[in-house]
Amino acid sequence: MADDNRVFIFDTTLRDAEQTPGASLKVNEKLEVAHQLARLNVDIIEAGFPISSNEDFEAVRRIGQEVVGPVICGLARAVLKDIDRAGEALQDAPKPRIHTFIGTSEIHLKGQMRKDQEQVLNMAVAAVERAKSYCADVEFSPMDAARTEPGYLFEVIEATIAAGATTINIPDTVGYAVPEEFGALIGRIIAEVPNSDQAIISVHCHDDLGMAVINALAAVKNGARQVECTINGLGERAGNTALEEVVMALKTRQDYFGYDTGVVSQEIVPSSRLVSRLMGIAVQPNKAIVGANAFAHSSGIHQDGVLKQRDTFEIMDPKIVGLDDTEIVLTARSGRAALRHRLEVLGYEVEQDELDRIYEDFVELADKKKEVFDEDLVEIVGGETVDATAHYELQYLHSVSGTGTVPSATVRLRIGDETVQQSAWGDGPVDAAYAAIGQATGSDIQLADYAIRAITSGSQALGEVTVHLARGDEKVRGRGVSTDVIEASAKAYVDALNRLAAKAAKEEHQTV
Ligand code: KIV
Ligand code: ZN
Repeated sequence: MADDNRVFIFDTTLRDAEQTPGASLKVNEKLEVAHQLARLNVDIIEAGFPISSNEDFEAVRRIGQEVVGPVICGLARAVLKDIDRAGEALQDAPKPRIHTFIGTSEIHLKGQMRKDQEQVLNMAVAAVERAKSYCADVEFSPMDAARTEPGYLFEVIEATIAAGATTINIPDTVGYAVPEEFGALIGRIIAEVPNSDQAIISVHCHDDLGMAVINALAAVKNGARQVECTINGLGERAGNTALEEVVMALKTRQDYFGYDTGVVSQEIVPSSRLVSRLMGIAVQPNKAIVGANAFAHSSGIHQDGVLKQRDTFEIMDPKIVGLDDTEIVLTARSGRAALRHRLEVLGYEVEQDELDRIYEDFVELADKKKEVFDEDLVEIVGGETVDATAHYELQYLHSVSGTGTVPSATVRLRIGDETVQQSAWGDGPVDAAYAAIGQATGSDIQLADYAIRAITSGSQALGEVTVHLARGDEKVRGRGVSTDVIEASAKAYVDALNRLAAKAAKEEHQTV
């Protein structure tokens, strides 16, 4: 039935993923997602379960009316009133599909429905026939198919195709299947159900054992031509087959699978971000394809390789999934190649000796922070350098503070050729550090102004302290930057002292 090398992508983010606790969306939000799914060019959007609530009904109705491109599908139990409600919701949709389902495993028959096999088979056939009275495109799912006795499963499939189902979806409802077994089941359906060539065989895999994607791919290898999936793999319990993973596996390993989808892969990341934002569910950083680290390189060897030739450590171009570029994460493990590359991106062309200088400062900062951001680099390049000729140099700082402790600080300063160490206490750790510096330098200097701000983001951000010191009528500014705000404060104070010393030296020079 299907094109020889085409796998249809059936997105159930708005139905199965929307069942995730806390992830429910308002009608307008569902419309926003549906429009994005249309840009992603999925083949079918399962827009909701119309009988389940008026909101779901309204969402299916409006998506059917407003979203152009994909087939719009509504879910219904194999119960006539459900199907009527789905038919009603889809009446204005140009390309409607009704998806009806019923449990077929012994566990479901006995444990939940309290019906025998014949009753369930009759309900399935009646449901498909009823759905056919609303639209030509009807999908039937024998729920918990992966745990259904194959002989009975094949009988239900044959009867529902005969009743008019155009897609037969095989759900692994509880994520119990393993790839070889699930692939073999699909192969057997195609080989053993006499009329299986009159329907598209679809799969719907849950991720309880982390095998949803690989089960779906095994099914494709064995003849399935529709995969049901969700953005970010969201869905009941551990979730569903992740759309982005199946699509990119088929695309990247076309050589192995030999199938295409119609998905516009550049819309994958925008879709992932939209769903994550609207459903309020963050994507784990190491999630394949759409996680924040999926295209981020941290090891120095990997960074060097990727910068020389991308495919040394990258199997997909990040642009294909809608990202700007590969991310080179600057950490203590990064080498000069990565640092130079990032500096060039930021517009700095540096000579080797300048790079060496920046690299030293970079490593010092990277040892304190997990990640060095662009803003940090700008600070480093901007010259937070130690002036070897400076009169004052902060060599050591130890500060103690906390609830129920008297804040105290010990500093060691190089002052000219001498080294001086002093300890003091104060109202807070900064006050204590300033008192200790004041005692070490012995100067009659007033702190006229003090300001602090975070110049990079995150809990390991760089703090920038600016102080104004006054001696008589003279006022100078000093600046210090560090991940440790007490150290930044002390540096700012010492920087201002150096400016005072430099001014004094200049004045003395002029009078000579
Ligand atoms: O997991 C499942 O079996 C389902 C069906 C409704 C297809 O979501
Ligand atoms: Zn499901």
